Amino acid sequence: MLQCLIPMDLLPSTRSRQLILLVSFFALVFNLSDHFPRRHVFRTPGPSIRAEDIRLKCQNIQSSPGPSPFFLKREVSDRFEIGTNSTLITNATILVGKGNETSIRHGDLYLDKGIVKAIGSLSYLKQANVLNLTVINANEAWVTPGLVDLDTHLGLMSAPFMSGALDASSTKGPTLPWLRNIDGLNPHDEGMQLAIAGGVTSAQILARNSNNIAGQTVIVKLRQTSEGSPLSMVVEPPHSLNKSADSTRWRHLQQACGEVPSEYGNRPDAIWALRAAYARAQNIKAAQDAYCQQAEANAWDDVDAFPENLQYESLVDVLRGKVKVTTQCQGAVDIDALVRLTNEFEFSIASIQHASEAWLVPGLVNRTWGGPPTIALFATNYRYDSSSYRGSEFAPRVLTDAGITVAMKSAHPVVNSRYLLQEAQRANYYGLDSFLALASVTSIPAAAIGLDHRIGSLHEGADADVVMWDSNPLQLGATPVRVWIDGILQIPLPPRIDRDNAINEGIGKEGEEWRRFPSVPKWENERKKAIQWEGLPPLMPRKQGGNIVFLNVKNVWTREGAMRPGSRSHSNLVHITVKGGRIVCFGDDAACPLESVEEYLDLDGGHIAPGMMTFGSSLGLEEISSEPSTGDGSPYNPFIEPVPPILNDPAALASAAEALMFGTRSALTAYRFGVTSATVRETSSGDARNIISGLSTTISTGASHAMERGAIIQKYTALHVAIQRPDPISKTRQVSVSNQIAGLRRLLLGWETQETDTKRWSKKAAEGVIPLVIDVGSADIMATLLILKTEVENQLGTRMRMVFSGAAEAHIIAPEIRNSNVGVILDAKPGVGVWDDRRALPGLPLTNDTTLAVLFKEGVKLGLRCQEAQDARNMLFDLTWAMLASNGVIKKKEAYALVSSNLQDLLGVVTEDVGDLVAYAGGGPFDMSSKTAAVISASRGVVDVF
Ligand SMILES: *[C@@H]1O[C@H](CO)[C@@H](O)[C@H](O)[C@H]1NC(C)=O
Ligand SMILES: *[C@@H]1O[C@H](CO)[C@@H](O)[C@H](O)[C@H]1NC(C)=O
Ligand SMILES: *[C@@H]1O[C@H](CO)[C@@H](O)[C@H](O)[C@H]1NC(C)=O
Ligand SMILES: *[C@@H]1O[C@H](CO)[C@@H](O)[C@H](O)[C@H]1NC(C)=O
Ligand SMILES: *[C@@H]1O[C@H](CO)[C@@H](O)[C@H](O)[C@H]1NC(C)=O
Repeated sequence: MLQCLIPMDLLPSTRSRQLILLVSFFALVFNLSDHFPRRHVFRTPGPSIRAEDIRLKCQNIQSSPGPSPFFLKREVSDRFEIGTNSTLITNATILVGKGNETSIRHGDLYLDKGIVKAIGSLSYLKQANVLNLTVINANEAWVTPGLVDLDTHLGLMSAPFMSGALDASSTKGPTLPWLRNIDGLNPHDEGMQLAIAGGVTSAQILARNSNNIAGQTVIVKLRQTSEGSPLSMVVEPPHSLNKSADSTRWRHLQQACGEVPSEYGNRPDAIWALRAAYARAQNIKAAQDAYCQQAEANAWDDVDAFPENLQYESLVDVLRGKVKVTTQCQGAVDIDALVRLTNEFEFSIASIQHASEAWLVPGLVNRTWGGPPTIALFATNYRYDSSSYRGSEFAPRVLTDAGITVAMKSAHPVVNSRYLLQEAQRANYYGLDSFLALASVTSIPAAAIGLDHRIGSLHEGADADVVMWDSNPLQLGATPVRVWIDGILQIPLPPRIDRDNAINEGIGKEGEEWRRFPSVPKWENERKKAIQWEGLPPLMPRKQGGNIVFLNVKNVWTREGAMRPGSRSHSNLVHITVKGGRIVCFGDDAACPLESVEEYLDLDGGHIAPGMMTFGSSLGLEEISSEPSTGDGSPYNPFIEPVPPILNDPAALASAAEALMFGTRSALTAYRFGVTSATVRETSSGDARNIISGLSTTISTGASHAMERGAIIQKYTALHVAIQRPDPISKTRQVSVSNQIAGLRRLLLGWETQETDTKRWSKKAAEGVIPLVIDVGSADIMATLLILKTEVENQLGTRMRMVFSGAAEAHIIAPEIRNSNVGVILDAKPGVGVWDDRRALPGLPLTNDTTLAVLFKEGVKLGLRCQEAQDARNMLFDLTWAMLASNGVIKKKEAYALVSSNLQDLLGVVTEDVGDLVAYAGGGPFDMSSKTAAVISASRGVVDVF
C-alpha cells in the first residue's frame, strides 16, 4: 500500500523530502490517498525518523486547543506593529462586552504594544512621562470592545463587486474540507473599511454556503497591515497556516445543510455527504491513534509513515476537538439532522448560522454533542427562502430564555457588516436584554470562534481593539468617534488631501438621553403568540369600525400639519375621538363627551403621525424572494428575448396592478410597523434584469384583497425603467448602456408606431402626465439621462417628471439634478455595491456628508426607498439612521416626509387616500420606547388595532 503525504518535519534530509513529495504527488494523482492499514508495523526507527519526533507529533495531535494560561501576561501582542504609540483613554464609560450592568466601568484605558495594558484609575501614567503617549479624554463617552462579526463574506465578495474578485463558492463538490478561504481573501475589499466605520474590528470570513463543507474559515482583523498580506490579517493563524505556531491554536471550518447547498442534491444527500466525509476522517483518526499508541508503547518493530491525508486532515482535527465548526442550518429538519450527525461522530458545533427555526426547537439545539452551539441570527431578515419563513424577531429573546447563547451577525453583504450593531439594537428593541444584545456582537461571537481570550471584551491582556461611540451604543444611529485595532487608530482616518478631514460627530446627540440605554417596549403577548403559532402568528389586525378613543396622546400630526389639541390638563396629554376612521374630536374629557364608545386605547404619551409609504422592493408582488411560486414570475425582457405575438406590445409593458398579492407577511408586518402604503413595480427576478419594469401601482399594505375598500390607492402611479451597467455576477446576456438609452429615447420621442400600451404610457411619461422613475446608480449615466430629458423636452415642448431611484452617486451632479427639476429616491443607508455605486458618500465617521445630506442642502426633492420586502418593517429604524447621519442637516419632520408626503409626490401618488394615520404608544415615531398601537384609516373607514 502506498502511503502519502508524510509530514516533512519527520524527515530531515532534503533528498528524502523530494522523494516523498514525488510519491505524494503520484498518490494524489492516482487518488490512492484514502486507505490506511488498520494496524501499523513499527520497526526500530531508522536514522531518518527519530522516535522523539514521532512522540512529539503524537503529543501535538492530541493536545487540547486554547490559549496558554500565561496568555494574558504577555508584554507585546503578536500583532503589534513597530512604531505604534501607546494611548491612554481617560474618563471613559467602559462597557466590558460581557456580564451585566455591574461590568460597566468608569475610568481610564491604557493601550500599549497592541494590548489593553490596564483599566482603572490611571492618572499616574500621565505624570509618569511615558514616551510618545497619546492621551484622549473621552468625556465620559461609551467605550466598547471592537465588534466581532461571526459571519461575513468580506474579501471573498469584494466591493465594488466584480467577477474577478468573487471567490465565495467552489463548484467542485459537496464536501471540500481541504479548501481554505484565506486563499481567496482580497485585502482590498472596500467593505472592510466600511465595517470598521461601523465599529467592527474582527470578522470570520466565510465562503458562501453552496457546499456541505465549503472549507476552512479564518478570523481576520479588518485593518490594513503594514505587510499588506491576507495572512498578516489573520488572528492566531493556526499551525496549518503558520508552521511556527504551536498546535494549540483553534482552527475553523464551515459546513451547511438544508436547502441552500442544493447544487449537489437534496437534504438527505447533504447529510450523507457529511456522514461519508466524517466516516473517512474517523478512519484516519483511528489509524493515527493506533500508530501513536504503538509509538508510545515503544514497540518499534518496523517503521511506517504517520497516517495522514491532506484532504481530510481538517475533519480529523474536528473529531479531535481542535476546530470551531460553524454550520449553516436553518430549519428544524436541518438542525435535527445536524444534531444527530454530531452525536454519531462525537464532535461539537461552535455556532449555527441563519438558524431561523432554532427558536422553535431549543430542546433540540440543547442536544448537540458537547453542548448547545451559539445561534447566529439576523434581527428581522427572514422569509428570503422557505426555511427562513418562520423566523422571528423574538428569536434572540426566546433562545436566551432557554439558556442558549445568541450572536447577531451580518452575513455581509446580505446585511452590510457596517450595520452589525443595528442587528443588536433591533434584537434589544424586540426584547433581548441590553447587555446580552451588546455581548451578541462582542464576547459571544468571540467565544464562538475560540478567541475570547483576546477579542470581544475589554480586560487586561486583551487585544487593543476599542471603539469610542458618540452615544450609548444601543441607541439608533450610534457612530464610532474613534476605533483602534491592535492599538492603531483606524477612525478617524489619517489626514489626506482629497478627504474632508475635520469630522464632526454627535450633532443632535447632545442630550443626556443619548447617553442612556434606550428603554424599549414590552412584547410578552406578541412573543407568546409567535411561539404558539410556530412563527406564523396571524398578522391581520382587529378592525374597529365603531367609535374609539385614544387616551393620553401627546402629539397629533397629520399630513396637513400639526393639530393643536386644546388641552387644559396639566400633563399636556389629550384624548382623541375617532369615528369611522376619522378624528372627530380632540381635547380633554370636557371637550369630547365620551358617549357610545366601543373601545379605549391608552397611548401612554404616544403620538399620532401619518402612515409611511414604502417603495423599491417586491412587497405586494411576492412573499418569498427565492420561491418563484410565491411571486409573479419574470416579465418578458424585450431587450434580450422576443415578446410573443399574443402580447402584441414591443416592450411587453407590465402593470403591477395586475400582479398584486395582498396579505403577505412582509406587507402585514410593514403595516404593523407604520408603513401603511406601498408603491409597487415589477422587479427583476432571478438573473434577468428588467430594463423596462412597467407601471407601478399604489396599495394599502393592510388590505386583504384588491377588491376591499381602499386596497388599491392608485391604480397607475409611474412608469419605471432601469439603466445600469452589466451585472458583474449574472451569466445572462447583458445589454449595453447605450442600447438601453437608445431604446428609452425611441419610446419617449414617440417613434413607436403601433398603438400599444408601451406607446401610450411612454407618451404620458414624455409629457409629464406620470413620472418616469429610473433605477440608476452612476453619476455618468445620470448625466446622460439629464441630457436626454432636455432633448425630449425640447423636441416635444413638454416638461417631464423624471426621478432617479437608487442614485448612489447623485451627489456628484447635485446642482445639475436640481436645475433639471429631477427628484431622487435614495436607499436609506448607503450599501456596498457595484461599480456604478462605488462613489456613494458613506457619511460619518468617514465623511461629514451623506449623498442624502448633499442633495438635501442642494434643494433636490427627496424620498427614501427600501429594496427588500422583509425589510419594509424597518423603515423607522432606517429613517432614524438617515436623519442622524445627515449630521443635523435633516430634522424630524423633514425626515418623515422622505417616506411619506415627498415620496408620494415623487412617485405621482395624487389621491387623498394615502391619509392613514398611525398611533404610536409610549413615545414618538423616532423613539425606541414606542410601538405602534393602531392605524386610523379614513379611506377604509376603520381603525385597525394591533
Ligand atoms: C450581575 O453579575 C454579577 C456577577 O456575575 C452577579 O453577582 C449579579 O447578581 C448580577 N446582577 C444582575 C442584576 O443580574
Ligand atoms: C517615539 O516616537 C518616535 C518618533 O516616531 C520614535 O522614533 C520612537 O522610537 C518612539 N519611542 C517609543 C518608546 O515608542
Ligand atoms: C508617536 O509619537 C511621537 C511623539 O509624540 C510622534 O512624533 C509620532 O508621530 C507618533 N507616531 C505615530 C505613528 O502616531
Ligand atoms: C469627564 O467628562 C465629563 C463629561 O464631559 C466632564 O464633565 C468631566 O470634567 C471630565 N472629567 C475629567 C477628569 O476630565
Ligand atoms: C438544556 O440542557 C441543560 C442541561 O442539561 C438543562 O439545564 C436545560 O434546561 C436544557 N434546556 C432546554 C431548553 O432544554
